[in-house]
Amino acid sequence: MFITFEGSEGCGKSTQSDELAKFLHQKSYPVLLTREPGGTRIGEQIRTILGNQENTQIHLRTEILLFQASRAQLVEEVIKPHLASGGVVVCDRYADSTLAYQGYGYRRVNLDQLRTLVNFATGGLQPDLTILLDLDVKIGLQRRSQGGQINRLDTYDLDFYQRVRQGYLDMAAQEPGRWKIVKADRSFLQVQEEIRQIVLQRLTGD
Ligand code: TYD
Repeated sequence: MFITFEGSEGCGKSTQSDELAKFLHQKSYPVLLTREPGGTRIGEQIRTILGNQENTQIHLRTEILLFQASRAQLVEEVIKPHLASGGVVVCDRYADSTLAYQGYGYRRVNLDQLRTLVNFATGGLQPDLTILLDLDVKIGLQRRSQGGQINRLDTYDLDFYQRVRQGYLDMAAQEPGRWKIVKADRSFLQVQEEIRQIVLQRLTGD
Protein backbone atom coordinates (compact mmCIF):
# COMPACT_ATOMS: atom_id res chain seq x y z
CA MET A 1 0.00 0.00 0.00
CA PHE A 2 1.21 3.46 -0.95
CA ILE A 3 0.37 6.21 1.59
CA THR A 4 1.23 9.88 1.07
CA PHE A 5 1.06 12.87 3.42
CA GLU A 6 0.16 16.32 2.14
CA GLY A 7 -0.42 19.71 3.73
CA SER A 8 1.00 23.19 3.88
CA GLU A 9 3.63 24.63 6.17
CA GLY A 10 3.69 23.75 9.87
CA CYS A 11 0.95 21.12 9.65
CA GLY A 12 3.13 18.44 11.29
CA LYS A 13 3.36 16.23 8.20
CA SER A 14 6.98 15.20 8.64
CA THR A 15 6.59 14.27 12.32
CA GLN A 16 3.31 12.44 11.73
CA SER A 17 4.63 10.48 8.74
CA ASP A 18 7.66 9.51 10.82
CA GLU A 19 5.43 8.39 13.71
CA LEU A 20 3.17 6.41 11.41
CA ALA A 21 6.12 4.56 9.89
CA LYS A 22 7.40 3.64 13.38
CA PHE A 23 3.94 2.50 14.42
CA LEU A 24 3.53 0.27 11.35
CA HIS A 25 7.01 -1.13 11.88
CA GLN A 26 6.06 -2.07 15.47
CA LYS A 27 3.01 -3.82 14.06
CA SER A 28 5.39 -5.82 11.81
CA TYR A 29 4.37 -4.25 8.51
CA PRO A 30 7.31 -4.00 6.07
CA VAL A 31 7.24 -0.21 5.93
CA LEU A 32 9.47 2.26 4.15
CA LEU A 33 9.44 5.99 4.94
CA THR A 34 10.58 8.49 2.34
CA ARG A 35 10.14 12.14 1.38
CA GLU A 36 9.97 14.60 -1.48
CA PRO A 37 11.83 16.31 -2.89
CA GLY A 38 14.63 13.86 -2.15
CA GLY A 39 14.54 10.29 -0.89
CA THR A 40 17.31 9.07 -3.22
CA ARG A 41 20.93 10.13 -3.64
CA ILE A 42 20.08 11.93 -6.88
CA GLY A 43 16.86 13.34 -5.44
CA GLU A 44 18.66 14.79 -2.41
CA GLN A 45 21.05 16.60 -4.79
CA ILE A 46 18.04 18.05 -6.61
CA ARG A 47 16.54 19.05 -3.23
CA THR A 48 19.70 21.04 -2.48
CA ILE A 49 19.34 22.97 -5.76
CA LEU A 50 15.66 23.65 -5.07
CA GLY A 51 16.27 24.87 -1.52
CA ASN A 52 19.37 26.97 -2.21
CA GLN A 53 18.69 30.59 -1.18
CA GLU A 54 21.09 31.79 -3.90
CA ASN A 55 18.99 30.24 -6.69
CA THR A 56 16.63 33.22 -6.85
CA GLN A 57 16.71 33.27 -10.67
CA ILE A 58 15.31 29.75 -11.00
CA HIS A 59 12.49 29.76 -13.55
CA LEU A 60 9.11 28.29 -12.63
CA ARG A 61 9.34 25.71 -15.45
CA THR A 62 12.81 24.72 -14.22
CA GLU A 63 11.48 24.37 -10.68
CA ILE A 64 8.56 22.22 -11.84
CA LEU A 65 10.86 19.93 -13.83
CA LEU A 66 13.32 19.57 -10.96
CA PHE A 67 10.52 18.42 -8.65
CA GLN A 68 9.46 15.91 -11.34
CA ALA A 69 13.04 14.70 -11.83
CA SER A 70 13.40 14.01 -8.12
CA ARG A 71 10.02 12.26 -8.13
CA ALA A 72 10.77 10.05 -11.14
CA GLN A 73 13.96 8.82 -9.48
CA LEU A 74 12.17 8.14 -6.19
CA VAL A 75 9.37 6.20 -7.89
CA GLU A 76 11.72 3.96 -9.85
CA GLU A 77 14.48 3.50 -7.30
CA VAL A 78 12.51 3.28 -4.05
CA ILE A 79 8.72 3.27 -4.21
CA LYS A 80 7.94 0.78 -6.99
CA PRO A 81 10.40 -1.93 -5.83
CA HIS A 82 9.11 -1.74 -2.25
CA LEU A 83 5.47 -1.92 -3.32
CA ALA A 84 6.30 -4.81 -5.67
CA SER A 85 7.70 -6.77 -2.72
CA GLY A 86 4.40 -6.30 -0.88
CA GLY A 87 5.55 -3.51 1.41
CA VAL A 88 3.93 -0.31 2.68
CA VAL A 89 5.42 3.00 1.51
CA VAL A 90 4.84 6.18 3.53
CA CYS A 91 5.87 9.29 1.60
CA ASP A 92 6.08 12.83 3.03
CA ARG A 93 4.72 14.78 0.00
CA TYR A 94 4.21 13.41 -3.51
CA ALA A 95 2.64 14.45 -6.82
CA ASP A 96 -0.22 16.42 -5.22
CA SER A 97 2.36 18.87 -3.83
CA THR A 98 3.20 19.94 -7.39
CA LEU A 99 -0.46 20.53 -8.20
CA ALA A 100 -1.01 22.41 -4.91
CA TYR A 101 2.15 24.59 -4.95
CA GLN A 102 3.14 25.02 -8.60
CA GLY A 103 -0.48 24.84 -9.79
CA TYR A 104 -2.97 26.31 -7.30
CA GLY A 105 -0.28 28.33 -5.50
CA TYR A 106 1.37 30.11 -8.44
CA ARG A 107 -1.68 30.12 -10.72
CA ARG A 108 0.63 30.61 -13.70
CA VAL A 109 0.63 27.05 -15.01
CA ASN A 110 -2.38 25.25 -16.33
CA LEU A 111 -3.41 22.39 -14.02
CA ASP A 112 -3.98 19.93 -16.87
CA GLN A 113 -0.52 20.62 -18.24
CA LEU A 114 0.91 20.01 -14.77
CA ARG A 115 -1.04 16.75 -14.43
CA THR A 116 0.52 15.55 -17.70
CA LEU A 117 4.03 16.29 -16.39
CA VAL A 118 3.33 14.69 -13.01
CA ASN A 119 1.94 11.64 -14.74
CA PHE A 120 5.06 11.37 -16.85
CA ALA A 121 7.27 11.61 -13.73
CA THR A 122 5.36 9.01 -11.73
CA GLY A 123 4.69 6.66 -14.64
CA GLY A 124 1.07 6.91 -13.51
CA LEU A 125 1.73 5.58 -10.00
CA GLN A 126 -0.96 6.96 -7.69
CA PRO A 127 -1.15 6.68 -3.89
CA ASP A 128 -3.77 4.33 -2.45
CA LEU A 129 -4.32 6.76 0.42
CA THR A 130 -3.46 10.44 0.80
CA ILE A 131 -3.69 12.04 4.24
CA LEU A 132 -4.21 15.79 4.13
CA LEU A 133 -3.21 17.49 7.38
CA ASP A 134 -5.39 20.55 7.12
CA LEU A 135 -4.53 23.63 9.14
CA ASP A 136 -5.29 27.34 9.19
CA VAL A 137 -2.50 28.96 7.20
CA LYS A 138 -1.65 31.58 9.83
CA ILE A 139 -1.33 28.96 12.57
CA GLY A 140 0.87 26.86 10.29
CA LEU A 141 3.21 29.73 9.51
CA GLN A 142 3.43 30.64 13.22
CA ARG A 143 4.30 27.05 14.10
CA ARG A 144 6.93 26.92 11.40
CA SER A 145 8.59 30.17 12.48
CA GLN A 146 9.12 28.62 15.93
CA GLY A 147 11.52 26.02 14.65
CA GLY A 148 13.47 24.55 11.80
CA GLN A 149 15.67 26.01 9.14
CA ILE A 150 14.19 28.28 6.50
CA ASN A 151 15.18 27.70 2.85
CA ARG A 152 14.25 29.16 -0.56
CA LEU A 153 11.04 27.12 -0.69
CA ASP A 154 9.80 28.62 2.59
CA THR A 155 9.54 32.18 1.38
CA TYR A 156 6.10 32.55 -0.22
CA ASP A 157 3.45 34.97 1.06
CA LEU A 158 0.24 34.36 2.99
CA ASP A 159 -2.06 34.48 -0.08
CA PHE A 160 0.07 31.86 -1.77
CA TYR A 161 -0.32 29.45 1.17
CA GLN A 162 -4.03 30.14 1.31
CA ARG A 163 -4.37 29.10 -2.35
CA VAL A 164 -2.27 26.01 -1.63
CA ARG A 165 -4.60 25.03 1.23
CA GLN A 166 -7.69 25.60 -0.91
CA GLY A 167 -6.09 23.60 -3.72
CA TYR A 168 -5.60 20.64 -1.42
CA LEU A 169 -9.20 20.86 -0.22
CA ASP A 170 -10.42 20.99 -3.85
CA MET A 171 -8.37 17.96 -4.84
CA ALA A 172 -9.60 16.05 -1.77
CA ALA A 173 -13.21 16.85 -2.70
CA GLN A 174 -12.64 15.65 -6.28
CA GLU A 175 -11.25 12.27 -5.18
CA PRO A 176 -12.81 11.45 -1.80
CA GLY A 177 -11.92 7.75 -2.08
CA ARG A 178 -8.20 8.44 -2.03
CA TRP A 179 -8.02 11.48 0.27
CA LYS A 180 -8.67 11.65 4.02
CA ILE A 181 -8.73 15.09 5.59
CA VAL A 182 -7.37 15.17 9.13
CA LYS A 183 -7.77 18.38 11.13
CA ALA A 184 -4.29 19.33 12.29
CA ASP A 185 -5.27 22.09 14.76
CA ARG A 186 -5.41 19.56 17.61
CA SER A 187 -2.88 17.95 19.91
CA PHE A 188 -0.19 15.85 18.31
CA LEU A 189 -1.54 12.69 19.96
CA GLN A 190 -5.11 13.28 18.75
CA VAL A 191 -3.92 13.73 15.18
CA GLN A 192 -1.66 10.69 15.48
CA GLU A 193 -4.52 8.52 16.76
CA GLU A 194 -6.83 9.49 13.91
CA ILE A 195 -4.12 8.75 11.34
CA ARG A 196 -3.43 5.35 12.89
CA GLN A 197 -7.10 4.42 12.78
CA ILE A 198 -7.50 5.48 9.15
CA VAL A 199 -4.42 3.53 8.06
CA LEU A 200 -5.15 0.38 10.07
CA GLN A 201 -8.67 0.33 8.69
CA ARG A 202 -7.28 0.45 5.14
CA LEU A 203 -4.63 -2.15 5.81
CA THR A 204 -6.93 -4.63 7.45
CA GLY A 205 -9.85 -3.87 5.15
CA ASP A 206 -12.30 -3.32 8.08
P1 TYD B 1 10.35 20.78 3.05
O1 TYD B 1 11.56 21.33 3.66
O2 TYD B 1 10.23 19.31 2.88
O3 TYD B 1 9.12 21.36 3.81
P2 TYD B 1 7.78 20.72 4.34
O4 TYD B 1 8.07 20.36 5.76
O5 TYD B 1 6.80 21.82 4.19
O6 TYD B 1 7.45 19.52 3.50
O7 TYD B 1 10.22 21.52 1.64
C1 TYD B 1 9.43 21.12 0.70
C2 TYD B 1 8.94 22.38 0.02
O8 TYD B 1 8.82 22.12 -1.36
C3 TYD B 1 7.57 22.82 0.52
O9 TYD B 1 7.53 24.22 0.60
C4 TYD B 1 6.66 22.37 -0.59
C5 TYD B 1 7.52 22.43 -1.80
N1 TYD B 1 7.15 21.50 -2.88
C6 TYD B 1 6.64 22.01 -4.06
O10 TYD B 1 6.49 23.23 -4.18
N2 TYD B 1 6.33 21.16 -5.08
C7 TYD B 1 6.51 19.81 -4.98
O11 TYD B 1 6.21 19.06 -5.94
C8 TYD B 1 7.05 19.29 -3.76
C9 TYD B 1 7.28 17.82 -3.60
C10 TYD B 1 7.35 20.17 -2.74
